Amino acid sequence: MEPSWHNAPVPSFGSKDARLLIVGLAPGLRGANRTGRPFTGDWAGDLLYETLIEYGFATGLYEERPDDSLTLVDTRITNAVRCVPPQNKPTPAEIKTCRSFLEATISDMPNLKAIVALGRIAHESLARALGQSPSKLPFSHGASFDLPQIGSGIRVFDSYHCSRYNTNTGVLTPKMFKAVFKDVQRMLG
Ligand code: URA
Repeated sequence: MEPSWHNAPVPSFGSKDARLLIVGLAPGLRGANRTGRPFTGDWAGDLLYETLIEYGFATGLYEERPDDSLTLVDTRITNAVRCVPPQNKPTPAEIKTCRSFLEATISDMPNLKAIVALGRIAHESLARALGQSPSKLPFSHGASFDLPQIGSGIRVFDSYHCSRYNTNTGVLTPKMFKAVFKDVQRMLG
């Protein structure tokens, strides 16, 4: 037991008025599950927040705690799964159950223009949340898809998840990750 930890569903971080939504996978046990803020205290947060600051989607200092000075700019971060999953691997049932929260998060964002899906699982849950079949909208790192039928038009950008595993094995390099946010920046202007 860790009574000082958050240990509960992790709420989205950032304003509902943002034009950009980033969809992660699930809170890390000792990261977001501990601190209560997505990607905060997680390995994955180091690259994510560094990149967001570099491309103007965040300001301040990321210090791995929810009361640091980091502020998101026109950006909101959520997770496909809201609670820390057993063995850090979300089950299909959890992903399905949490999809209603993802749907609500999306429909609560009136200015939404761009969504970054971090990894295949987030991409597939997001596709379903947007009423698309993942088989018709397959995950592809670096690709983007226009969904003109959603709201006033949304573009989905795919990236490999910025996890410790993916970055340590070279599946995702910082350069590859940053290129995705460069594309988003170019689109949002
Ligand atoms: N922390 C999160 O909040 N989400 C992830 O996908 C990974 C780490």
